[in-house]
Amino acid sequence: MGTILVTGGAGYVGSHTVKRLRDEGIDCIVLDNLTRGHRELVKDARLVEGDLGDAPLLKSIFKENDIRAVMHFSAFAYVEESVSDPAKYYRNNVSSTVTLLSCMLEAGLSSLIFSSTCATYGVPLRIPITEDHPQNPINPYGATKAMVERILKDFNSAYGLSYVSFRYFNAAGADPEGEIGEWHEPETHLIPSVLETACGLRDSVRVYGADYPTQDGTCVRDYIHVCDLADAHILGLKYLLGGGSSDFFNLGNGNGFSVKEVIEMASRVTGSTVPTVYAPRRPGDPPVLVGSSEKAKKILNWKPKFSQLDQILSTAWIWQQKLNARRQQAK
Ligand SMILES: NC(=O)c1ccc[n+]([C@@H]2O[C@H](COP(=O)([O-])OP(=O)(O)OC[C@H]3O[C@@H](n4cnc5c(N)ncnc54)[C@H](O)[C@@H]3O)[C@@H](O)[C@H]2O)c1
Repeated sequence: MGTILVTGGAGYVGSHTVKRLRDEGIDCIVLDNLTRGHRELVKDARLVEGDLGDAPLLKSIFKENDIRAVMHFSAFAYVEESVSDPAKYYRNNVSSTVTLLSCMLEAGLSSLIFSSTCATYGVPLRIPITEDHPQNPINPYGATKAMVERILKDFNSAYGLSYVSFRYFNAAGADPEGEIGEWHEPETHLIPSVLETACGLRDSVRVYGADYPTQDGTCVRDYIHVCDLADAHILGLKYLLGGGSSDFFNLGNGNGFSVKEVIEMASRVTGSTVPTVYAPRRPGDPPVLVGSSEKAKKILNWKPKFSQLDQILSTAWIWQQKLNARRQQAK
């Protein structure tokens, strides 16, 4: 099928998808500036170290390689940072994506798989969230992704760009073989933060709000295993290259887990206690955020394999211990 260009392939979700592409025998090239990613996560795939906004670099990649489609993971993805420095987010997530799309079209390439997010929906009006739910992002990060989705629609109408845009819920877990996993610095996601606490790298986990209208009072979120996300990307690619029409798909677990459930399961999986500190609710945190992925299951025949919380946590734990050892060695 030619070569797939994977932007952001040295990051968390991108590297798991690169591994999956290679398992399928699909050739790929990773483009990553390593600002948030790690060379070690790319393993033996080809890595071009460079920036998505570098049009001459993109042109030369498209000229010198038989690229068939682009999987576009690269972006900045910290909500708080996007609030304090929105220019950085609009530049990297929106402007650079327009550069990518323009270079693709100029090179005669028209197939794109895009990493969007449930943050484009904002505060949910109904649960589970389906793809036709209104999009009202409440932070600049979500707004950048909603803008790119709008750009994709316009480029489809005007220039014939074909796309699959995946709106992920919370990516979690790690490669079951323990080769790669989540490696963010700083780490803001709940599961790795809980695991870092379980192994003593953090004093405690902060739980924001224990008085929500949920079964145990803590927020409920939808955690989707990163390998299930990677599988969906392979299916999305085959769908698009097989002539499937451009579309948006949620990728979530469909089952929400509360913050307390995650902490309790982490204690069980790691065999350690996880000290917890309760703090007031954070503004903008909805009680429940759970998506419906029926559309991806029906149209792409996506079958998630790691939906149980213990599978998510135990794969993440294998990786967390490897990461700890690596960090220890680097000291
Ligand atoms: N992790 C999640 O839970 C989640 C949820 C919803 C959506 N997403 C989206 O999925 C994508 C991947 O997320 P992730 O968690 O793997 O993030 P990540 O930060 O681990 O990976 C992103 C990668 O993109 C690279 N990058 C950023 N800007 C670049 C640029 N201008 N040029 C080249 N490389 C650049 C980074 O170095 C990093 O390797 C992002 O677009 C994110 O918004 C992630």
